[in-house]
Amino acid sequence: MNAARCPLVAANWKLHGSLRFADDWARDFLRRPPPAGIEVLVCPAFVHIAHLARALEGSGVSVGAQNLSEHRDGAFTGEVSAAMLKELGCDYVLVGHSERRRIYRESDEQIAGKLRAAAGAGLKPVLCVGETLAQRRADDTREVLRRQLDAAAPVLSGLAADAFVIAYEPVWAIGTGETATPEQAQQAHAFIRDHLGGLAGGRAADARVLYGGSVKTDNATSLFQMNDVDGGLVGGASLKAEAFADICRAAPPRRD
Ligand code: 13P
Repeated sequence: MNAARCPLVAANWKLHGSLRFADDWARDFLRRPPPAGIEVLVCPAFVHIAHLARALEGSGVSVGAQNLSEHRDGAFTGEVSAAMLKELGCDYVLVGHSERRRIYRESDEQIAGKLRAAAGAGLKPVLCVGETLAQRRADDTREVLRRQLDAAAPVLSGLAADAFVIAYEPVWAIGTGETATPEQAQQAHAFIRDHLGGLAGGRAADARVLYGGSVKTDNATSLFQMNDVDGGLVGGASLKAEAFADICRAAPPRRD
């Protein structure tokens, strides 16, 4: 990890939790808060955001959403806008998670719209990218990452490097218990960083690139010590507050 970039360890609770769960999780997590120099983010379901933000108030832990609408307002039943999330206390929002791309058929164009909406409302988007197993086996990983990043480039190239985050989440490693090796993660992260460097202005190369996909207490240290891995996006293991606290501690704090 590059000491100049503040590591970010993020929890994606997906479709889990309850108000009671959020209270218990916050209490347990804050018993052993992470050291200074590590940023922590928790993304619960929309309906738990305000409650969790209150439970974590003053702790320095950020709250974010798992999705948002690309629209500002209008006749879009069931959608939630960037401004609504900001008002609830969100700092970040996940955009283009592979489950959204695959199950809800979100296109690269729609994802670019969501990035634009998030940034326009002052939210930091966490753009998720990653290849499927078939794409990796066909040696298409770089091509897939390039396409996903290029679709986002018109938005990302207008943002400061600290105004967005990329999460590399190989689809074959999500919820499968199979993790990318630290070397596989580093290879993909270096490619992403290099590609970001080619965007207008080149500033984007300093953006944080998180690894996601079966991050656990026993593999976090080896992943987080790689040069271009700036933290993690954690699904299943983040539901246990103590385990997530341990994963946060596996990130080497930024030294200023
Ligand atoms: P798991 O950590 O459960 O593999 O999930 C990763 C993920 O999708 C985080 O967004």
